Amino acid sequence: MRTSIKSVGTYVPAAILTNADLEKMVETSDTWIRERTGIVERHIAAVDETSTDLAIGAALDALKGAGLRGQDTDLIVCSTSTPDSTFPSVASRVQERLNAQGPAFDVQAACTGFLYGLSVADRFVSSGEARQAIVIGTETLTKIMNFKDRGTCVVFGDGAGAVVLGPGRNGAGIKSCLLGSDGRGGDLIYVAPGADSPEGPGRPEIRMDGRKVFRFATEILAQATIDALARAGVPLDAVKLVVPHQANARIIEAAGKKLGVPPSVMANNIAQYGNTSTASIPLALKDAVAAGRLSAGDHIVLVGFGAGLTWGACVIEWEGAAAEVAA
Ligand code: ACO
Repeated sequence: MRTSIKSVGTYVPAAILTNADLEKMVETSDTWIRERTGIVERHIAAVDETSTDLAIGAALDALKGAGLRGQDTDLIVCSTSTPDSTFPSVASRVQERLNAQGPAFDVQAACTGFLYGLSVADRFVSSGEARQAIVIGTETLTKIMNFKDRGTCVVFGDGAGAVVLGPGRNGAGIKSCLLGSDGRGGDLIYVAPGADSPEGPGRPEIRMDGRKVFRFATEILAQATIDALARAGVPLDAVKLVVPHQANARIIEAAGKKLGVPPSVMANNIAQYGNTSTASIPLALKDAVAAGRLSAGDHIVLVGFGAGLTWGACVIEWEGAAAEVAA
């Protein structure tokens, strides 16, 4: 039995940080940010708004879209690099709020985390161990941002996305999920303790070698897509939509060129959200569903990369029906 996406939900903080706002904070310009990243604005969590708050919003949105009840959920897997606390997990907090049952735990694979979570949940659902699983990607990255570092602070944003999973109908569902990691790239993007951070003593902050990550990203997005399609036995020309991690519009364009697919095949909504790390793939998927871009039987590829270095790609035959209601 395959694991199918029944619904996609999202939640983003109300406050928006524009490129014009960033111009007042670091030496940058709206033109530079648009041309080099494709980003126009990003959402930013309030001081008292946590990754758990965002995760609950996304999970409730996904459940509502599918017409399903939180208490029928028997597995919650949450991916985040910005948990409210080391423990309990964000997933456990969400479980309490949904009055759900079964295991609940977090995974950490940075921006690839949503796909790691999806792959783990797929094993529970396809084996029959879970009937209604929720996978969530949630981030409040602006809380670990150095707003004096123009190489990172213009790129990231906050948000959450979630999918409800269940047994697929008519053969639809996840056909392959490929995960990878190369720990030798661990120093290219990492969170430092930030003892002398301008944002405050002891505040952790993201550090990144943008150019090197960029080169890795364009290669791996294309390669992971090809490998996951081969494993699923699905030809590239049968793919309706590739939903890549939204890190930089130029990375998405370069990956599309490497694959040889038209730009319209590559989902790209980075302009409104920035890089929301593990939340970016469900945020882009939801926008595609809402725009009516997917029908039952379509093949899609979710593909991402992130700190670790990690990567992942999942090939899915879209079930439709409930997922379309969610739009
Ligand atoms: N505004 C204006 N100028 C800037 C800015 C800015 N915000 N940032 C850098 N510059 C300058 C640099 O100082 C440099 O100036 P110089 O030529 O005088 O030395 C010039 O612009 C070019 O700098 P690059 O670093 O080469 O800029 P690039 O085009 O590579 O863009 C960026 C930087 C946006 C960070 C890009 O490298 C990128 O997107 N990299 C990938 C990042 C990524 O994918 N991260 C994923 C993280 S996944 C996870 O797990 C969290």
